[in-house]
Amino acid sequence: MISKMLQKARDFEKKYLPYTVSELPKFHVTGGIGWINDPNGFAPYKGEYHLFFQYYPYDTKWGPMHWGHVKTRDFIRWERLPAALAPDMDYDRDGVFSGSALELPDGRHLLMYTGVRNIRRRNGKLESVQTQCIAYGDGVDYEKFEGNPVIDASLLPEGGSMEDFRDPKIWREGDTYYAVIGDRCEDDSGTILLYRSKDAQHWEYVSVLSACHNQYGRMWECPDFFRLDRKDVLFVSPQDMAAIGLEFHPGNANVCLIGTYDRKTYHLNRDSVQAIDYGLDFYAPQTLLTDDGRRVMIAWMQNWETSSCKMRELRFMGQMTLPRELSIRNGRLYQNPVRELENYRRILIDYHNVLINGEATLRGIYGRSIDMTVTIRPGNENNMYKWFRLYLARDGENFTFIRYRPEVGTIKVDRTHSGFPHDIVNVREFPAYMKDGVIKLRVIMDRYSLELFVNDGEQAASFVLYTPIEAGAVSFSSDGSVLIDVEKYDLVID
Ligand code: FRU
Repeated sequence: MISKMLQKARDFEKKYLPYTVSELPKFHVTGGIGWINDPNGFAPYKGEYHLFFQYYPYDTKWGPMHWGHVKTRDFIRWERLPAALAPDMDYDRDGVFSGSALELPDGRHLLMYTGVRNIRRRNGKLESVQTQCIAYGDGVDYEKFEGNPVIDASLLPEGGSMEDFRDPKIWREGDTYYAVIGDRCEDDSGTILLYRSKDAQHWEYVSVLSACHNQYGRMWECPDFFRLDRKDVLFVSPQDMAAIGLEFHPGNANVCLIGTYDRKTYHLNRDSVQAIDYGLDFYAPQTLLTDDGRRVMIAWMQNWETSSCKMRELRFMGQMTLPRELSIRNGRLYQNPVRELENYRRILIDYHNVLINGEATLRGIYGRSIDMTVTIRPGNENNMYKWFRLYLARDGENFTFIRYRPEVGTIKVDRTHSGFPHDIVNVREFPAYMKDGVIKLRVIMDRYSLELFVNDGEQAASFVLYTPIEAGAVSFSSDGSVLIDVEKYDLVID
């Protein structure tokens, strides 16, 4: 049965979606209309990959959360499906928050999410009651389980918080379902709780998989836990993070913990901790395992800090990153655009060994929907260049640049002049080092975004651009002599 509230959202989509098509990115997921945040339920189902997202169709700002829905076969071309869930039950009346999905052995599509209900206490304080709920469906329509919620405060460990208890990520091992859920413990900081169940309806609390102890931010949102290249990996999105060097920026950050999962204590023993993405716009990543064994991640390409910064007259707010293939090399997380992107490359323009010393442009190198790799080497081994800059989305007024400084080993991306007239954070700097004397920048642009992959995925950084779409020039500049190779494709999705 489709509730009135869900029907209203679906009718609204039918009416208004067709008008936004020309404004949208070509291959990055948006809500089409209205607001989106976190990816939800990113998982294979019946031979396709489904993606849901936090969604409020009626405005370009956050509102009572629904789940929007799209699916794809190749992570590039997406088909829009009608909104899947609305906050239409008493236990989720204040929001159907983030969660995940799974194909059940009987062919049904299981969704697991956080239901939010705010209660006004006698002392006037508004308290959020967050519980975990499930719904069953066929890939289009979903029915919430009559036994919801399936995990509530009674299954919290001592000191756990019912107010910050959200974002279940479910998976199956043999005949057992597991879920990791973000919570806050006695010391007021984030903790990732592990639960298990035989039927996804009756759950028991298992352990604290990992805890923050006020080291990496406060509440840990949107956990994801998976095995990758013989390591165990936990992703979390901390709130209220303090900056740590150039590795972690303050505010809503993103953290990757790599280690070994002790299956006796159900605890993750950490080897290392690093940022997942160094850009301004990246939060709440979620992954899936493809049929051919790839771990693919997608994230919200936005950040709460700048989420009130809407792009002028556009009728959508929020987009997802390009799905990325993950791997671990030398103990580090690597990420690269899904290989399917290569099927959409058209018209190669390439240059080899171009000497840059000062300002330059190259014929044919421009665009706002491009896949471009620039490989940079010193032009003079005895006199290292001071910096190299790659300018993008440029016209007389606007530009975004990526700067590399070999002596310090940092990349800076600056979008101060990228169309947004507010004094928000517009610059990010992060460590990056030459390999065999070379630094390699792969840039993917899709109208209003820039995703940068350094040295074949050793670092990634995502940025929303607000620059008018006509600003498409690309230029190069350096202090000192530099030799570059450039390989540029247009990305065309018919
Ligand atoms: C993260 C988050 C989640 C929550 C959702 C609400 O961005 O705060 O913790 O489930 O957004 O929209």
